[in-house]
Amino acid sequence: MAFTILKGTILSAPTLGELEAVEGGYLVAEDGVIRGVYETLPEAYASEPVEDWGDALILQSFSDMHLHAPQYPMMGMGLDLPLMDWLQTYTFPLEANYADTGYARAVYRQLAHDLVENGTTRVCIFSSLHRPATLILMEELERAGVSGYVGKVNMDRNGGEHLQETTEESMAETLQWLEECQRFQTVRPILTPRFTPSCTDRLMAFLGKLAAERDLPIQSHLSENDAEIETVLKLCPDCGQYWESYAKRGLWTNRTLMAHCVWSDERERKAMKDAGVTVVHCGDSNWNICSGTAPVRKMLDEGLKVVLGSDVAGGDNLSMFQAVIAALRASKVRCTTDGSPFLTVAEAWYLATSAPADFFGEKPGFAPGNRLGAMVLADDKVLSPHPLSPAQRLERAVYRRQKNAIRAVYSGGRKVFSAQ
Ligand code: GUN
Ligand code: FE
Repeated sequence: MAFTILKGTILSAPTLGELEAVEGGYLVAEDGVIRGVYETLPEAYASEPVEDWGDALILQSFSDMHLHAPQYPMMGMGLDLPLMDWLQTYTFPLEANYADTGYARAVYRQLAHDLVENGTTRVCIFSSLHRPATLILMEELERAGVSGYVGKVNMDRNGGEHLQETTEESMAETLQWLEECQRFQTVRPILTPRFTPSCTDRLMAFLGKLAAERDLPIQSHLSENDAEIETVLKLCPDCGQYWESYAKRGLWTNRTLMAHCVWSDERERKAMKDAGVTVVHCGDSNWNICSGTAPVRKMLDEGLKVVLGSDVAGGDNLSMFQAVIAALRASKVRCTTDGSPFLTVAEAWYLATSAPADFFGEKPGFAPGNRLGAMVLADDKVLSPHPLSPAQRLERAVYRRQKNAIRAVYSGGRKVFSAQ
């Protein structure tokens, strides 16, 4: 047995809106699986080594539930066009480069390290349509200690000359990729029709059938932007609303992630709730490429499953601290425009750490049985007239999101990042 025992101020989000703190506590994992959080170390572990982090905050690490690996090199660039033009002008030409496996290796190695340094140990991530580059992405994530789901993107229309498969190619490459990625332990495949404008009905129906036959999860985009929605309704005359283009092809399940949903109306949101589809809210991306402000708080009130994503490179920052801030601010924009309530820091923190657990078959917080995902924050002493509570310290860490805020990151049984 290999033990990881961390001592410090252990802070987690076991339920939406509530934080649980154990000061001077112990977080214990055995072979990378959490056993518990304790005020005093149980006798059974007394002879095991303890990493003592003093009173440092020890937090759940992040799950980034929506980002595009091949767009990493354009992060922070080209945010001067709305979605559909942005895709054609910047995104698709960049993604075409991942036919080159050497380029893919260099980018994906750096991305994987950048993720763990930012405290992200679990992802649901889009690759490009290239099968070999997708396998390289899976290798690099696993090597760096990032677990989760990776998708080879399917695109058989509207990608232009350099970023498009035939329907047959897309189906055959997906099947081969599913065979080849059985060798991975901690990263798994997720079916990834890019979005309805990129995929014919025939391809989507094939993927829907595959999802059912092999019990596979699905990720895509929904109702992000007005021009996108118009395109979908033109392409799918049999669909009254965007979501039906997925639902009619078997892609609307309780293991489906839909990014954005900025413009999903009551009916579309109800369809998500009824099917158990999860919304991935990506606030920064929605502002950067002029999509809008999603009603993130309202979605929670309606009982939808909501998680957060950086959506790099529509999002300009890989740090999920930034995605938490974007969610808080999006909720406040909605508050000032339509009077809906806004998110608290504890709620937004839950969305970035605990809410995704369900998608991975785990429990919220540092629950026993969960894979260990934790980060230790740097010294945050402040000349406050009274000691700060753990919740206040978290709030400050979120809003200040300083460089070098993270001292160490653990994933499974491994320490995957250390600032020393
Ligand atoms: N919709 C289809 N593809 C993309 C993409 O790469 N980024 C975003 N933000 N939306 C998309
Ligand atoms: Fe996206």
